[in-house]
Amino acid sequence: MKKLVVFYSLDGNTKFIAENIADEVNADVLELKPRNEPKSKGFMKYLWGGREAMMRTKPELFPLERNPQDYDILFIGTPVWAWTYAPPLNTFFSTGRPSNKKMGLFCCHGGGKGKIFERMKKALSGNTILGEIDFKEPLKHNRDADAGKAKNWAKNLISAL
Ligand SMILES: Cc1cc2nc3c(=O)[nH]c(=O)nc-3n(C[C@H](O)[C@H](O)[C@H](O)COP(=O)(O)O)c2cc1C
Repeated sequence: MKKLVVFYSLDGNTKFIAENIADEVNADVLELKPRNEPKSKGFMKYLWGGREAMMRTKPELFPLERNPQDYDILFIGTPVWAWTYAPPLNTFFSTGRPSNKKMGLFCCHGGGKGKIFERMKKALSGNTILGEIDFKEPLKHNRDADAGKAKNWAKNLISAL
């Protein structure tokens, strides 16, 4: 079975989890890269990003380097922005949205994931969601433990198939 980890990450947490999952289950990786990112990594990014998320914008992405339809299992990851998924996933869901795939969903947040998985599942209807998992800013808190947690989750998800 071909596996792909699709993710967006602004500050590296989701990327860290994505890389650990890919490493564990021998998956390819597709990073969603918007053409415009916030210039500031400080407080302004919350104002800018929160607004983008609440308005459900669809930022233009650089061309995707892999085609998700070529894979059997997709792991899809995002940071939580304003209690939902980050806008680059809006773009992905509305343009290259995969269908008839088996999926695992993951997210990173600062303590409040809101209804992100419900929203992702709604946006991904037509696919089979095998499981979901969240992490609280692994790069700040439990880096090694979270890497292990991500690997175990991904391995178990695949072996249950
Ligand atoms: C614009 C913006 C909005 C955010 N909104 C939330 C939120 O609603 N709930 C939460 O727990 N964390 C929120 N966060 C924190 C991020 O979800 C958290 O730092 C996450 O680990 C970042 O992932 P990344 O490093 O992959 O970008 C927000 C961060 C940004 C930049």
